Amino acid sequence: MFSSRARLDSTPNRIAEVISHRRASGAGLIDLTASNPTTCGLDYPHAQIGEALAIGALSPYQPEPLGIASAREAVAAHLRSRGESATATDVAITASTSEAYGYLFKLLADPGDQVVTARPAYPLLEHLAQSESLAIAQFPLARDGRWHLDVDALAGSIGPRTRAVALVHPNNPTGSYLTLAELREVAGLCAARGIALISDEVFHDYPIEARAGAARSAADYDLPCLTFSLGGLSKSAGMPHLKLGWIRVGGPQELRVNALRGLEAIGDDFLAVATPVQVALPRLFEIGATVRDRIRARTRLSLIALRQILSAEKSIEVLPVEGGWSAVVRVPRIVADEDLALALVEYFGVIIHPGYFFDFESDGWLVVSLLSPQEDIEEGARPIAELVAVLAAP
Ligand SMILES: Cc1ncc(COP(=O)(O)O)c(C=O)c1O
Repeated sequence: MFSSRARLDSTPNRIAEVISHRRASGAGLIDLTASNPTTCGLDYPHAQIGEALAIGALSPYQPEPLGIASAREAVAAHLRSRGESATATDVAITASTSEAYGYLFKLLADPGDQVVTARPAYPLLEHLAQSESLAIAQFPLARDGRWHLDVDALAGSIGPRTRAVALVHPNNPTGSYLTLAELREVAGLCAARGIALISDEVFHDYPIEARAGAARSAADYDLPCLTFSLGGLSKSAGMPHLKLGWIRVGGPQELRVNALRGLEAIGDDFLAVATPVQVALPRLFEIGATVRDRIRARTRLSLIALRQILSAEKSIEVLPVEGGWSAVVRVPRIVADEDLALALVEYFGVIIHPGYFFDFESDGWLVVSLLSPQEDIEEGARPIAELVAVLAAP
């Protein structure tokens, strides 16, 4: 009855089961995995967002497959405001960054083809590829104090059916940016193999402990391969509920023109982006600057609190956070990450992501969302330090 792409098995994992039992019993929970900025206690300019959308709602329907001209220009202006040289004609509007992946996979690959990506990885990518009947091949990021791209490992993952390399820049959850040298090497490799580079830049507006040499947006360089830089209101303006993302196309002119033609045809099938949000977009970027500042302040304070509390236990290390909304925490490999996460929720009500959620290669990793309010970080980090201290004791 159902396709091989349908994911019908919705059995909850062990951690989700314990969380729902705890919730049902009325016991408290401290969520250190919060990823929805609209529900984590940030003050939102709701009235201004409402006014902007109300004006948009007065507009007639404008079915434009690549997005209405003023929305494409608003995205280009947003990118220019961060120092890029974007033009509206290279921008396609989508209903989210996730949808943008779907469009690009349709554009670039046939069922059975493959997309190469790095791990630790953003988990949704695998599902999005599966929805298009594509395979994902992962190569590990290297780490020597900081995460970086091992271009040989990437090259080794490219096979005859690889159609694209998809990298998250800065990466979720490691926060690591590509350096310009890494980006140029990858682009050279993609050009030589005739495949495209997808650069997911949803966290580009959130540098924290940024490093020298970090590359700007991939599509902003004159790279030799077809390049797609992805972004969206969900992160850039903290407005995931408004459902608007974008693709900026870069690379050689002829490929770029054809890619935009293909995206236009795919966009025409769905016409997924609501007109009011597109009409409101220039104003939403203005309002979004305030939200972005609040998220930036939140993530920075959360990181300070996390470091301060976890530094009480010497066997724990909070890795540098170059950018994004997550901190990676290294813990001794005494028990499986899943068991550690289970113990934390079962005994202390602390919800945390174990590293395997993000395809870390080994145990010894936890991921904390820095969107979590500072008081939750403080309350939730203490049991982590205490439990690890007990486990690590000789
Ligand atoms: C790396 C990355 N890409 C894409 C997305 C999805 O963004 P959107 O809400 O625009 O679909 C997320 C959401 O968390 C993400 O972390």
